[in-house]
Amino acid sequence: MTTTGTPPLPKAELHLHIEGTLEPETVFELARRHDVALPYASVEELRAAYDFTDLQSFLDVYYANMAVLRTRDDFAALASAYLRTCPEQGVRHVEMFFDPQAHTARGVAIGDVIGGLTDAIEHHADDVSAGLILCFLRDRSAAEAEETLRAAEPYLDRIVGVGLDSAEVGHPPSKFTSVFERARGLGLKPVAHAGEEGPAGYVTEALDELGVLRVDHGIRAIEDDALVARLVRDRTPLTVCPLSNVRLACVPGIGLHPLPEMLAAGLNVSVHSDDPAYFGGYADANYAAVREGLGFTDDQLRTLAANSITSSFLDDEAVQRLL
Ligand code: HPA
Ligand code: ZN
Repeated sequence: MTTTGTPPLPKAELHLHIEGTLEPETVFELARRHDVALPYASVEELRAAYDFTDLQSFLDVYYANMAVLRTRDDFAALASAYLRTCPEQGVRHVEMFFDPQAHTARGVAIGDVIGGLTDAIEHHADDVSAGLILCFLRDRSAAEAEETLRAAEPYLDRIVGVGLDSAEVGHPPSKFTSVFERARGLGLKPVAHAGEEGPAGYVTEALDELGVLRVDHGIRAIEDDALVARLVRDRTPLTVCPLSNVRLACVPGIGLHPLPEMLAAGLNVSVHSDDPAYFGGYADANYAAVREGLGFTDDQLRTLAANSITSSFLDDEAVQRLL
């Protein structure tokens, strides 16, 4: 969406947790279908619980809501509902995160999770291209991450990369050095959440220990001049999620978000929506937030959108087609 009435800028969505597109209405619909008891009397009551004070307070609700996702069809419907919104927002390509451990721990087969998401991706392939990034939950053990990667091996042709998410502080990237090494050996592209709530040092660790090709969030990198110089030199992409950072109190308000400073420093930043059903909106809402809350110009918005495309894992030819 733009204020000028022109079509939305073509862009790629590189930081989106597909489970974070689970809207409150769908939570209730699936709870009824699968006879799952919810601790909320209504959609409004559930929405009222989206009053987060930090990352953990969000994750508690986020994982609890996922209990309604049970079948391959549920995952297909979830991803389909999201992919259907992409064309109207100018989103031409998606590299979506998913959290297999959050589902297998509830008895859902990883093949149903990946199968359902893949069904939706194939169904919408004429309108938007999409790939999957398997995330390890960093607040669970490295051994469990290894098991998860092993369980995903029959489906590797459907997965572009591996990521690292969930509670950051106290769970540094170095906890997962070995599983990332194995994932890279399998041809998967490594990315990781770092420097969202955790320190700039976790961004350095993600680069050194995990060999990440993109940093998710990375807003606290700006606190470390040597790290900024390194990220600028290497043009390492940082997938920034402004509305998420505000709603999880990682920044005190949109007007104080470090994105302008990051862009001015020469960092390769792009803007994404993280968990749009929880944080107040999809790609268009995040672009609107930086335009209205940070005064970004049309030129700056074009830079963000172009960065999102060039930072994707698409090949050069596909990138050129989207630019
Ligand atoms: N940070 C860490 N883990 C997550 C997030 C996030 O913003 N969203 C979903 N899982
Ligand atoms: Zn995220």
